[in-house]
Order: sequence, then C-alpha cells, then structure tokens
Amino acid sequence: MTDLLDSGEQLGREELALLQLERLRATLRHAYENVPFYRQSFDAAGLSPDDCHTLADLARFPFTAKSDLRDHYPFGMFAVDQSRIRRVHASSGTTGRPTVVGYTDRDLDTWADVVARSLRAAGARPGHKVHVAYGYGLFTGGLGAHYGAERLGCTVIPASGGMTARQVQLIQDFRPEIIMVTPSYMLTLLDEFERQGVDPRSTSLKVGVFGAEPWTEAMRKEIEERFAIDAVDIYGLSEVIGPGVAQECVETKDGLHIWEDHFYPEIVDPFTGEVLPDGEEGELVFTSLTKEAMPVIRYRTRDLTRLLPGTARVFRRMEKVTGRSDDMIILRGVNLFPTQIEEIVLRTPAVAPHFQLRLTREGRLDALTVRAEARAEATAEERAAAALAIAAAVKDGIGVSVGVEVVDPETLERSVGKIKRIVDLRGA
Ligand code: DLL
Repeated sequence: MTDLLDSGEQLGREELALLQLERLRATLRHAYENVPFYRQSFDAAGLSPDDCHTLADLARFPFTAKSDLRDHYPFGMFAVDQSRIRRVHASSGTTGRPTVVGYTDRDLDTWADVVARSLRAAGARPGHKVHVAYGYGLFTGGLGAHYGAERLGCTVIPASGGMTARQVQLIQDFRPEIIMVTPSYMLTLLDEFERQGVDPRSTSLKVGVFGAEPWTEAMRKEIEERFAIDAVDIYGLSEVIGPGVAQECVETKDGLHIWEDHFYPEIVDPFTGEVLPDGEEGELVFTSLTKEAMPVIRYRTRDLTRLLPGTARVFRRMEKVTGRSDDMIILRGVNLFPTQIEEIVLRTPAVAPHFQLRLTREGRLDALTVRAEARAEATAEERAAAALAIAAAVKDGIGVSVGVEVVDPETLERSVGKIKRIVDLRGA
C-alpha cells in the first residue's frame, strides 16, 4: 500500500508539523497582506502574522464566519488579482447571498490532487471508471470530483445530478467501478434500479464515495447491503476548497482522514470559541495551508465532529459529521439532529430509508413530526407498529416526544443532490 501513497501522505508526524507551521505562517502573511478583511481583523486583535510561532498560536487569531464571506460578496475575500482567478464556484446559500469562492491555477491543481488522493483512499485505481453524479455547475461537487478522478488516471463519466432513469441506464451500459454521489441521491437511484427491474446488487459498482451531506452508519449498512458495494465518506466545503478535504479509507472505514498538509483543523466550543483537545466533540474550524486565491483563516464550518488520531494514514481523522449546528433542532429544550432520526428510521423494518422532519408550532411550543415512508410490502398493522416503534425509540434514545406518520410508499420528495430533511412550517 505505501508504494501507492503520495509524498504528502508519507510524511511523519514531526515533518508534517514543521510543514504545517511553515505553510501556516505563509498563509497568515498572504491573507494579511492581500485581503483587507484579514488585515482589519488581525489589526483589531492586535496581532501580526509574525505572532504565530507555533501551531498552537493559531488559536490567538480571529475566526472567519460565513457571514464575513457574504459581507464581501462577491470577490472581496480574494487575495490575488482577478486575472489570476481561473474559476469561481458558489454555494447555494439557502438564505441570502451565496458565498463565492475562487481558485488560481495552482489551487485547481491542489484540489485535483487532494480529490485524487481521496479517491485512492476510497479504493479507486487508475483505469477505473468513475460515475460522477454530484451536480456540475457552481456547486463544487461535480467538477471537484471530476478533475480529481481524471488526476488519478480514471475514466470519468460526468453524469451530474438528475435524469435518474438515464443514470441507471448509464451505469448498466458503461459499467463503472466507482460512483460519486450524495447518499440521499444514491437511494433515489436504488428506487430507480428496482423500478426498472434491475437487481442493484448485480451492477459493476464496487465503491461509492458519498458526501456533501450528513449520513449515518445505518445508512452505510443500508447502501452497502442493497448495492453490494463498499460505501465510504468524503467531506469538504466550498470555502475550504470543495470535496476532498477529508476522506475515509476503504480498508478501515473508521472516520475521515483530514488532508492536514493542506487544511489545518481545530475543534472549538461552538459557544465560547475555545479550542478543545482532540477527542472532544465541537465545531470544526479550518485554516487553509496552501490556498492562493482565497486563503481562509479559522473558518467556522458549523459542522460538529471530533478529531481522532490517524490509523490508515498519518493524518488525524474526523469522526463522521453528526450534523451542522444550523440543522440542530431544539425541541422543548432537547437538542436533536436529523442523523439521530435517520439511525432510528433505518433500523425500523416496515419503513423505507426515506423520511422528512416537519416542524410546526402548537400554541407556544414547537412540535416535530417524523414522516417516514412505508415499504411497499408493509401491512397496515406493520405500519402502525412502525410508527409506535419510531416514537418510542425517539423518546427513549433522545428524550423527547415527537409525532410519527408512516406515509404511503413513493410519497416523500426524492433527493437529486443534497437532501433537505427539515421542513419548517413554524412561520406558516
Ligand atoms: O458539499 C462539497 C462536497 C461535495 C463534499 C461533494 C463532498 C462531496 P458545500 O456545498 O459548500 O460543499 O457544503 C459544505 O456540506 O459544511 C457540511 O455541512 C456538508 N458536508 C459535506 N460533506 C459532508 C459529509 C460540499 N461527508 C457542507 N458529511 C459542509 C456530512 C457533509 N456533511
């Protein structure tokens, strides 16, 4: 295996730390000298880039929030002349302005390298065919996956999202070994295979590289069994580069190795901002170490996870993301994440892995209804029992009462990309 690793992956921990510090200091200086926002925020904190002598010193520097990127829409966070920006992407932004990110030639090169590294960790090899069903366009998923797969020496099938019936046809005809897609869209594909009368276990697919949204071990099991493939997790966000910030290795499936030679992680207390030691759960924060067009310093991802020591690689791992702090539902004082409901729905036999969470207001209290779809073969009794079982599991496991509706098969909206689990009707 080691002969397959690139030079960054072969560093020892100490060499890695030296490289990180050198790159960190250069990034702080680059940001300070070229982005007015960073100059102001460092100045306001009374810090100069030279005040970073150790990796731990980074904790003294101010955070960057998504709102800072929005405030400098579209190009105000760029650190190089516009003539050097070779591409932009943007994240959809469910509320307000999108956030725009930019890449120089070298950034695009780095990105392709880290995605290639991710794909290799997932089990892809040169010569494999990679079906990319992440959306192409301003979203980083499609093009990020695309150039990484080419960089590894794979054959790319740039399917993008949507046209589900045709995707199934392409998979049968082109016989890819690897698929890259959101886990929720993989379930949409599963339905379509069954609708076309094709056994999803009979395809050429060997590995699925799933990300762009939270998904659980229960979902891994469901997808692995129904498709007879290995399912591994890929993580990333536009502001940091796109997909390929961290990747799970297929041989261990024990969380995602963060490509720490390019992206420096910290975990902070989401409320106080204090840096937490490895092993403790909190908000993931990233500082880019090699980016030119848009360096990010202590960018708050709002994703909740823990840092763990390396296993299959020298780099530290992050645990599967539990959810975003934005997606946390606070119901009568109890915190709840859609992934917790996913675990419960997926272990309930009479329901399919499709569910939606509806938030409503009853008087002055919020109420949550889990709407889960019945499996086609489930009887009325099994459906009623499933509703009771889900409500009881939520009450016992999470500690809050929710309503449960088991709805007819094929009634909940299907994902074509990132799924929206929560339907908030409280303002309605
Ligand atoms: O979703 C980049 C990406 C594309 C990653 C394809 C993996 C595969 P954004 O649209 O900027 O970028 O959204 C980033 O998505 O902060 C997380 O909340 C969530 N996310 C991404 N990957 C995972 C994952 C892309 N593996 C936001 N598990 C992040 C959980 C994920 N959440």
